[in-house]
Amino acid sequence: ETLIQKSGPTPPFHPIQPTDKDDLVLPRGFTYDVIAAWGDDIGNGEKFGYNCDLTVYFPINRSSSHGLLWVNHEYIGSGSIFLYDASTPEAKKFEIEQYNLGGSILEIKMEKGKWQLVKNSRYARRITANTMMDLTGPARGDAAVGSVTEVKGTFANCSGGRTLWDTVLTCEENFEEDAKRWGRNTTHYGWVVEVDPFNPQSKPKKHTALGRFSHENAAMTLSKNKRLVIYMGDDSNDQYFYKYVSDEAYRPELGHQNSKLLEKGTLYVANLEKGEWLPLDINKSPQLKEKYKTQGEVLVNCRDAAKLLGATPMDRPEDVEVNPVDGHAYLALTNNTKHGNFYGQILRFKEKNNDPASERFEFEVFAVGGPQSGFACPDNLLFDRKGNLWVCCDISSNKLNQDNVYKSFKNNGIFFIPTYGKHEGEAFQFASGPRECEMTGPWFTPDEKTLFIAVQHPGEETTDPKNPTSRWPHGDIPRPAVVAIRGF
Ligand code: FEO
Ligand code: CA
Ligand code: CA
Ligand code: CA
Repeated sequence: ETLIQKSGPTPPFHPIQPTDKDDLVLPRGFTYDVIAAWGDDIGNGEKFGYNCDLTVYFPINRSSSHGLLWVNHEYIGSGSIFLYDASTPEAKKFEIEQYNLGGSILEIKMEKGKWQLVKNSRYARRITANTMMDLTGPARGDAAVGSVTEVKGTFANCSGGRTLWDTVLTCEENFEEDAKRWGRNTTHYGWVVEVDPFNPQSKPKKHTALGRFSHENAAMTLSKNKRLVIYMGDDSNDQYFYKYVSDEAYRPELGHQNSKLLEKGTLYVANLEKGEWLPLDINKSPQLKEKYKTQGEVLVNCRDAAKLLGATPMDRPEDVEVNPVDGHAYLALTNNTKHGNFYGQILRFKEKNNDPASERFEFEVFAVGGPQSGFACPDNLLFDRKGNLWVCCDISSNKLNQDNVYKSFKNNGIFFIPTYGKHEGEAFQFASGPRECEMTGPWFTPDEKTLFIAVQHPGEETTDPKNPTSRWPHGDIPRPAVVAIRGF
């Protein structure tokens, strides 16, 4: 036992080899259940949306075999060939697209050893690009958003996170193209949206205090004096790493009222050269006062404001998660082919005095992608309770099919990387996805016996729907689907 502790964690599975098989390939002894695939009835007559991403499991009565599952639906893209044919009128196309984006709330249960959807659930619900939601925080009603207090819908929902009071934070990422095509005001998108899965009547909230950019995810932790701290990446070439610190402390006994903490606080952006968090606050950073009239305007124009303050551009900051063992924030930089960074890396941020609310930090490179390490283009991250990192990789499928620098990796996979001990920073492959997919949104049940994964865009390079490049999961056309992996 002492020997095991000294040598640190080893993978709890026999690692697999890269493969181009059109299936979700897992180590010996592991299986998966398809919980819901695109187009399935979610239990109330509504349909599961397209290109699923973030999953968040909410236990019912603390159960690891019965709960609610939030699932993001990010984008349609080339999948449109399966949604409608070219002769469909444009207005109808938009309606179909808008319905298929946003999120799904599913009630799920383990029955006879398999995960199933609960039929006629009172929780089942679709949130779409047409669901009305409130704006909160400094940009609510500001001229910079057209002076409105509510907006229509959410889409481009990439990753996100869970609050400490059992709601989901779903993040709007690449909203621009669809917003423009549909004739929407782009300042109404690019926010972090909070949804309460346990209250089907609840109106979602877009928290403008967390800034507007291509939000990847939102990882919540507490400062030493119990204020909320939320780390967030902006997934675009040469964009920035942010964190939000609430003004007031979290009080567990207040439950959902803690949501107010997401309305008043300070948004910071990272300068890596100086190891400093720079406040994107018109009252704390005088340069901002010269350019912007209100704090709402600063938040709407986050990227420009961050650049003005001297934030450090990075190679596409994707997921960030806080390690429950060492308390550090780990950030995936997926790649930046413009800079010749093909494989990406994962950084580890150590806040001064180990306080997540600190205004100073140090960082180091924790793991580097490439043929040596076996993984490339890290994207979604998840920690288990022992502090091991589970990493979903996202090599673009148009690059996967070619003879190029990505050839040896084959289909996108999931990797297990210990964060301390003898195997610190070493990657062991746990899963390989169907063709041209990316596995996204990993989330464990509290007992860590089930790992939920959203299999996104299988068969993404299909040009003829009658001859798809993937037939996963049902053997006909490719369908994005959320699965439960068992065997731990
Ligand atoms: Fe939607 Fe940054 O991945
Ligand atoms: Ca992502
Ligand atoms: Ca990605
Ligand atoms: Ca993708």
